[in-house]
Amino acid sequence: MADHLKAAFCRCAEDLPEDVLVLSAGSEGLTLSYDSLSMKGDLSDMLPRVRKENLNRELLVKAAGLNRLANQEKALFAVDATAGMGEDALLLAASGCFVKLYEKDPVIAALLKDSLKRAAKIPELQEIVSRMELTEGDSLEGLSSLQGKPYVILLDPMFPERRKSALVGKKFQLLHYLERPCEEEEALLNAAIQAGPERIVIKRPLKGPYLGGIKPSFTMEGKAIRYDCLLQPQRVSGMKER
Ligand SMILES: C[S@@+](CC[C@H](N)C(=O)[O-])C[C@H]1O[C@@H](n2cnc3c(N)ncnc32)[C@H](O)[C@@H]1O
Repeated sequence: MADHLKAAFCRCAEDLPEDVLVLSAGSEGLTLSYDSLSMKGDLSDMLPRVRKENLNRELLVKAAGLNRLANQEKALFAVDATAGMGEDALLLAASGCFVKLYEKDPVIAALLKDSLKRAAKIPELQEIVSRMELTEGDSLEGLSSLQGKPYVILLDPMFPERRKSALVGKKFQLLHYLERPCEEEEALLNAAIQAGPERIVIKRPLKGPYLGGIKPSFTMEGKAIRYDCLLQPQRVSGMKER
């Protein structure tokens, strides 16, 4: 694993140099740590949000239109092109979607894989997680070789403002050592449009610019973020620059 992560391997905690990010494997899963901060992926935190009585109130579920699409015979196909720690993807899967997740950072992908493995042992999450399939890699490539057209593609690229935001939970602070601001936003959006989904949902900072300068069909605002939604993105013409 160390080779894959291009990291140095250390068998003993005492041998670790100071001032480095450490990924350690223990009986309770993978932990990322630096100084006094440590985190592991833990989708059990999401349990209250995926419960039936709460799920349809989630802004993402509404932005994806999933609150109005209950009781589908076949699971809708969703793609989370910027998976991170998989929380948004979990909401999509809890709403009945089969979700293909792409995460290109190998350390974040390893933490997410481990988190999904542990979530699969939690009875209330087991079925939901069984509809989530993680691929470690760049979604720019993944989106061009999908089997079938997705119903929804979620894009949540890292934006610089969020690095400084007090709204970023403590547990995610460490990830910011790994996440890079997305330099390929426009390419990502184009790849999502080319994949031919019914809609693209883009998570943005409340006051941030439109991704790629493309005006969405509609926007849903929360307290700290908003979702820009593009309906039938391939057919929409005359999208205006902001
Ligand atoms: C802001 S986080 C996403 C958080 C996620 N929505 C969640 O619920 O945890 C953005 C993530 O997208 C990943 N990413 C950015 N560009 C990507 C790409 N082209 N392919 C795959 N992953 C990408 C980054 O490594 C980072 O982990």
